[in-house]
Amino acid sequence: MDSKQSIAQLVCQALASCYPNSEQMPDQNTVAEYLEVPPEKEMGDYAFPCFKLSKVLRMGPPQIAIALAQAIDAPHLCQAKAMGGYLNFFFNRENFAQEILGSVLAAGEAYGSGTEGRGKTICIDFSSINIAKRFHIGHLSTTMIGHSLRRIFDFLGYTTVSINHLGDWGTQFGKLISAYKHWGDQDEVERDGVEALTRLYVRFHEEAEREPALEDEGRAWFKKIEDGDPEALHIFNWFKELTLRDTQRVYDMLGVTFNSYNGEAFYNDKMGRVIDELKEKNLLTISDGASIVDLEDSGMPPCLILKKDGATLYATRDIAAALYRKDTYDFDKCLYVVAYQQDLHFRQWFKVVEKMGYAWARDLIHVSFGMISYEGQTLATRKGHVVYLEDLLNRAKEKALEIIREKSPDLENPQEVAAQVGIGAVVYADLQNNRIKDIDFWWERALNFDGETGPYVQYTHARCCSVLRKAAQREAAALEEVSDLSWGDGQADYAGLGDDYAQEVLRLLSRFPEAVREAALRYEPSIITRALTEIAKSYNKFYYENRILDAEPGVRQARLELTLAVKRTLKTALYLIGMDAPERM
Ligand code: ARG
Repeated sequence: MDSKQSIAQLVCQALASCYPNSEQMPDQNTVAEYLEVPPEKEMGDYAFPCFKLSKVLRMGPPQIAIALAQAIDAPHLCQAKAMGGYLNFFFNRENFAQEILGSVLAAGEAYGSGTEGRGKTICIDFSSINIAKRFHIGHLSTTMIGHSLRRIFDFLGYTTVSINHLGDWGTQFGKLISAYKHWGDQDEVERDGVEALTRLYVRFHEEAEREPALEDEGRAWFKKIEDGDPEALHIFNWFKELTLRDTQRVYDMLGVTFNSYNGEAFYNDKMGRVIDELKEKNLLTISDGASIVDLEDSGMPPCLILKKDGATLYATRDIAAALYRKDTYDFDKCLYVVAYQQDLHFRQWFKVVEKMGYAWARDLIHVSFGMISYEGQTLATRKGHVVYLEDLLNRAKEKALEIIREKSPDLENPQEVAAQVGIGAVVYADLQNNRIKDIDFWWERALNFDGETGPYVQYTHARCCSVLRKAAQREAAALEEVSDLSWGDGQADYAGLGDDYAQEVLRLLSRFPEAVREAALRYEPSIITRALTEIAKSYNKFYYENRILDAEPGVRQARLELTLAVKRTLKTALYLIGMDAPERM
């Protein structure tokens, strides 16, 4: 039970003696809601305002506060003092320290995890790249938010299915084949991968301006892919492989993996069911030769299902994919981590699924996010300014290496640490703020070792490791063994954690499990980033204000335990947002 609920419980027990009629008495949750955090530290950790009870109890608030204070006797937990119309609670700091450290350290690496997701499946559609297009900085957020959500839900015991819904269907692939047939060189394409395909695609458009017949040729090649022509399929699958090979390098750097790469093309033979069902349920209307689902009653433009020529669309494929995923995984939730530009698309086809009579339409969730710009410039994919993710991550490594060489010239594995720090800096910058906010990425800011940055939190983790290493060297006892000691055996003197700095660290640690749950509930990794940053900041303040290694043995033990608890929680939090936790840097 958390500290707020414990206090609420005490208040309720005390209230029982005041209320003549127990039905009028507020319950524990209501009392917990009434509890306030006082503006000044001198006023304690929580305050219960008695004003709200005054009417029913026919007593002045100060009298109520006094009566309650007299009825509360729980010195191990807290002291209760009547202060005006408030009943103020002062935690027993020693006891609080022992309790929190006990639960963090007993959980090992799993502090904050849970089993509430057992037996429930969450599908997460994220990253979802397009074939023959290079992976650019605009794909960072979908990739990292999706990856982080997957880790968060796994941590809470859910079964997760990570899906890369490949954009591998559309007339552009016919054009690409046509371009390859005209000007392509197998060795060159094999060597340069997506880069070469992009050049071919650009060339196709240039030439097609002069030679419009090329467009028809492109369409004809696409028709061949659709009809399963062996040559067309062979070339197209090769393009697909090349794209996946290139993106795999980025996924490897980021530690991202998928359970499924079933993309748009996978649903080719599953479209019939969608069309049949829509017809059967009288949802399809013909408009200008195209088949649509009218959504006027929901205030949206119609959802396009079939083009004039009978071709299916992006939305049709998404509906087919949702039906397939429900059948295959029986998901409790299916998340779509896609930029807010596609808001309408998702609202439309979610509505179509609802109209089809599927109650689980409400379990389809668009996890949308804002745009990213780079050093003040927004990205234009068509011309000019495109920042490729692979280049960005490589630059991040190089820049981190320069900083590390300067700051820690003796580090044994500078390359490895530079990769962890550089990539971590990018990931942190991406997951720092609420996902719906636009992001402006600046190197200077992301790689700063001070302030709210990836390197700063990683450095705090490394600092904890260093403190623990030094302690272990001194005592020649491995500190990881601390967790195996029995609690309350008198070794640690928790009075050594009575100062405001230590208490703040403990308070933040105690709230970490809540932060994980809230991040899951709101599909919001930034809640973890915030918790991570706050714990790091508070530990650094504690570190500057207190001696650890030179304190007397009982106090040192308590402060080392706090350090170990912080180290583990930071590592977990870093993991949950997809960052590494180097032990030295
Ligand atoms: N490939 C699409 C794009 O880049 C994103 C696909 C998102 N997933 C989905 N099921 N629609 O815009």
